[in-house]
Amino acid sequence: MSAKRGRFVTFEGGEGAGKSTQIRLLAAWLAERGVEARMTREPGGTPGAERIRSLLVEGEAGDWTPMTEALLNYAARREHVARVIEPALAAGQWVLSDRFADSTMAYQGFGHGLGRKAIEALHRAAIGRLVPDLTIVLDIPVREGLARAAARHGREDRYENMATEFHERVRRGFRAIARREQRRCALLDARPAPEALQDEIRRVVARRFARALAR
Ligand code: TMP
Repeated sequence: MSAKRGRFVTFEGGEGAGKSTQIRLLAAWLAERGVEARMTREPGGTPGAERIRSLLVEGEAGDWTPMTEALLNYAARREHVARVIEPALAAGQWVLSDRFADSTMAYQGFGHGLGRKAIEALHRAAIGRLVPDLTIVLDIPVREGLARAAARHGREDRYENMATEFHERVRRGFRAIARREQRRCALLDARPAPEALQDEIRRVVARRFARALAR
């Protein structure tokens, strides 16, 4: 048989939580420990899924019905899992993904009100049983996160233009997911400086994967 299966770590949270910076810092730390980590993102991560991403993050807030949004995200996720995530994990690589299924639960399930059952059914049909080994949920007050995101983004602002109440429901959704799945999820305050937040994330990762990192 080939290498031992890699670990699947996902980063979640509302707009402007600083996920991509934290993923980059974590990948560098893992590399120092001899762990090759593949960084990727959703929606996206393959050429086809990046095309679907453009449909979702550009344009007007009301362009899609909530279920269409959920289906587009799952179409992109199917590509990403089949072509990138599963092959990497099978080859022994770790995968660090900027967003995964919890985003559909929080944004479409809680934010748009599709509900937990509908999203779980989509997940079963499109993906099956793949669940992250660890999920870091970065929590930030909605106004602060939206201000940070606005300072950064160009055309990818479709979600940022949705109502503040929508983003409050998304935030509550992420917190509910983290509460419900405490073994998989670590809920962290995203407001400390990037270096301090990264220290916290490294502590969580070191604890969760003590054996894999102790070589
Ligand atoms: P971001 O990852 O750059 O923040 O942008 C992706 C946007 O898409 C973000 O506003 C969250 C949203 N999104 C969903 O609504 N559902 C999903 O399943 C995913 C992966 C992202």
